[in-house]
Amino acid sequence: MPDRTFVMVKPDGVQRGLVGEIVSRLEAKGLKLVAARFEKLPEQRVTEHYKEHLSKPFFPSMKEYIMSGPVFLMVWEGRNVAAIVRKVVGSTNPQEAAPGTIRGDFGIDIGRNVIHAADSPESAAREIGIHFKTTEVFDYKRIDESVLY
Ligand code: TYD
Ligand code: MG
Repeated sequence: MPDRTFVMVKPDGVQRGLVGEIVSRLEAKGLKLVAARFEKLPEQRVTEHYKEHLSKPFFPSMKEYIMSGPVFLMVWEGRNVAAIVRKVVGSTNPQEAAPGTIRGDFGIDIGRNVIHAADSPESAAREIGIHFKTTEVFDYKRIDESVLY
């Protein structure tokens, strides 16, 4: 099975019209989009997705924010993709994220940091399982695969 990761444009990213920019950056990097869905997340999936953070003080406000509008859910494929996407996304706090990263270029507030990306291959598998059925993830060839991989 090829390496896959889970990525989500958060409500602020959707509302600011950044979906296309984010998809473009990941495509241009050489990663392959294999699943995508636009959706307002139900509470149960937000809780499951962020279960490591359930007891954190920021959890209630984060849950409210994530559920405040539609999100754009994606699965991306490519060698070592989870680590690559985390680099493209940048540090959790946009104030500290390097210029050139998505959070560094488009955010200021840690509570409005535009995008989520799974932090490891194990997290990616877990999160893909929460948000996508296997039939929603597609297999196809990019015509530039011989250059990229
Ligand atoms: P975390 O998993 O630590 O960051 P990342 O998204 O980079 O994997 O935290 C999950 C989200 O929780 C984070 O993207 C934004 C929010 N958050 C806060 O609102 N305040 C905080 O102090 C932290 C650590 C996270
Ligand atoms: Mg995280």
